[in-house]
Amino acid sequence: MEIFHISAECYPVAKVGGLADVVGALPKYQNNAGHQVRVVMPCYDTKFRKENDFECVHWGHVKLGNFNFPFNILKEKTDSLGFELYLVEIQELFDRKDIYGYQDDIERFLSFQIATLDWITGRSEIPDVINCHDHHTGLIPFMMLYCHKYEKLRNIPSMITIHNGLYQGQFGFDKLYYLPEFDLAHVKVLEWDNCINSLAVAVKCAWAVTTVSPSYLNEINYYANGLESLFNLVRYKSRGILNGIDIEVWDPAKDAMLEKNYSVKTFEKGKQENKEKLCNLFNLDPTKPLFSFIGRLLEEKGGDLLPHAAALALSENYQQINILILGSGNKVIENQLNSLLQDYKGNYNTFIGYNEELAHLIYAGSDFLLMPSRVEPCGLNQMYSLRYGTIPIVRRTGGLRDTVIDFGDDGNGICHDQATVGDICYSIQRAVDLYDDKKHLNKIRKIGMNTDHSWERVCQEYIELYNLIINKK
Ligand code: GLC
Repeated sequence: MEIFHISAECYPVAKVGGLADVVGALPKYQNNAGHQVRVVMPCYDTKFRKENDFECVHWGHVKLGNFNFPFNILKEKTDSLGFELYLVEIQELFDRKDIYGYQDDIERFLSFQIATLDWITGRSEIPDVINCHDHHTGLIPFMMLYCHKYEKLRNIPSMITIHNGLYQGQFGFDKLYYLPEFDLAHVKVLEWDNCINSLAVAVKCAWAVTTVSPSYLNEINYYANGLESLFNLVRYKSRGILNGIDIEVWDPAKDAMLEKNYSVKTFEKGKQENKEKLCNLFNLDPTKPLFSFIGRLLEEKGGDLLPHAAALALSENYQQINILILGSGNKVIENQLNSLLQDYKGNYNTFIGYNEELAHLIYAGSDFLLMPSRVEPCGLNQMYSLRYGTIPIVRRTGGLRDTVIDFGDDGNGICHDQATVGDICYSIQRAVDLYDDKKHLNKIRKIGMNTDHSWERVCQEYIELYNLIINKK
């Protein structure tokens, strides 16, 4: 089967969050399973772009209303990622350091989508299925169905995978003329709450809708930033497929970013060595339990609760625990977290920023990983931490609910129900008690390390769904 994945991110080419990890891994496993898989993404000014060789396989002009942007489709020459990678180069719009956050994001991602379809329509082979990811690619299913110049793609099934339904890519009808020509009888399809809503459009037009965990599929029926009723309406073509993790990249036995490699047989010693390295780097006490947070410091991830929870847990367990935070996001949260540094020197530290290598060391060297998310469509960090023998402490929501079971129920982690400082601190207290019972602690770590979250099984679920929609043609 010939599959196209279209996405704004893909690890290691360009990453902001978990979307990149998924688009960097799922295609590789689909390719290994014998399919012909291609990933298409914008060409940003990243390290990967500079350090790899590309050949231009197509060029053209994107027409966006009155604007005209030249574009090139660049193919990475060696398929080093395990699938064919194509970058859509539109220099004026994407030759920048950041992936998102520009005033012209709507123009940027719309041009990307149009260039991609211009190219795919012109190819001699027509793909079997097009899998779009999140709102940045949400107008593709619409354009395939209704834009005159993509008529050739009308019968190709499209699927939208929702990694985060809170972000929807809305813009005003004043920009309607950006879209390639289509029969205006269909203009209503673009509308949600008086705007063009890219995610809503994708959900309406795609032949199948997936979310990245089964629980998240249930949750968006009552919490989806205004799209709840739409998600209810399309339930018949929706499916929740839990993400996997790339067990080649995330393998404590081989991970080159660790101080010491270890397996399920040697994890006690291995984790301790990584912990010592980490504690050295951040002036923490390696004899005390280490609680870490890795991720974006946003309300959605419970980031606003962290400063208060950390302060309370550190004062209640004075000098008995360590807390380490790696992340960036909301400046207020960043400042609040940094303001604790003075009071809890030796037991608390932060690294404000994004650092992939450090993240690996933290998964390996921590005892517990905090994930107090308000919303978590899947969450990958809890799966990485389980694989590295680090016990996740999670709020039961979305994919966290599907992957972490409380140790009180013979599970692999620690769970609480409310996104509150009180619930987080209660869980930290349970973790402190568990840390003193080494036999029990190690038993739970082993359960986590032995859990299979690999993509092999999951990738089959995607293929089954593609087959289902292909047969509907
Ligand atoms: C988004 C979600 C996260 C999910 C990831 C990959 O970043 O917030 O929960 O794991 O996408 O699907």
